[in-house]
Amino acid sequence: SNTKKSTMLNYWTYFAKGIEYTLLITAVSVFFGFLLGTLFALMRLSHVKIFHLIAVWYIEFVRGTPLMVQVMFVYFGIGTIIQSLPALVAGIIAVSLNSGAYVAEIIRSGIQSIPVGQTEAARSLGMSQREAYRYVVIPQALKNIWPALGNEFITLIKESSIVSIIGVGDLMYQMQLVQAATYKGVLPIFIAMVLYFIMTFGLSNVLGHFERKMKHA
Ligand code: ARG
Repeated sequence: SNTKKSTMLNYWTYFAKGIEYTLLITAVSVFFGFLLGTLFALMRLSHVKIFHLIAVWYIEFVRGTPLMVQVMFVYFGIGTIIQSLPALVAGIIAVSLNSGAYVAEIIRSGIQSIPVGQTEAARSLGMSQREAYRYVVIPQALKNIWPALGNEFITLIKESSIVSIIGVGDLMYQMQLVQAATYKGVLPIFIAMVLYFIMTFGLSNVLGHFERKMKHA
């Protein structure tokens, strides 16, 4: 009835704050994840054996362990060295490190999808190996992997919900506060779920718009 509706409306600031944190964690982690991913992709493709091995092990290990465990390990692990490490910082570090491994594979496959002939053509025009990579291979690869990077952004909106277990005030955490304050078990979950969907669906449409624009460019 009327009271039910107003109960949840009274707590809209909780949900708003949760969305704010969720988007903040996601955006910052996508940024650092991309930098890390680029680094690890290039290392994995490197002919320097030690770089290659470090990248392979990093990528396999991160993708082979749960994000939940990584979040707890960063928070409590680094927390023993750096006293009072803010949960938000720990959460961002963990999600960024996680995303870096997944993005590395996206970028690696993007680079490998560019035919060798492209590099050979650039080399025959007098470019060095580095220049061929920088000006011919990477720009084409970036164009191809753009949709996959967009998917990673969407994935992180959802997966970042796990940082709520270390007390970061994201949407899932705020949802639990509303549950506790209102004694309502299901409605706050449903609202959080719809809000997550609005974020992912909205972003998906924005990304689709850019994708179509790029196709015509
Ligand atoms: N649920 C997955 C896990 O615990 C999360 C993977 C994160 N995925 C990503 N593309 N960053 O391992």
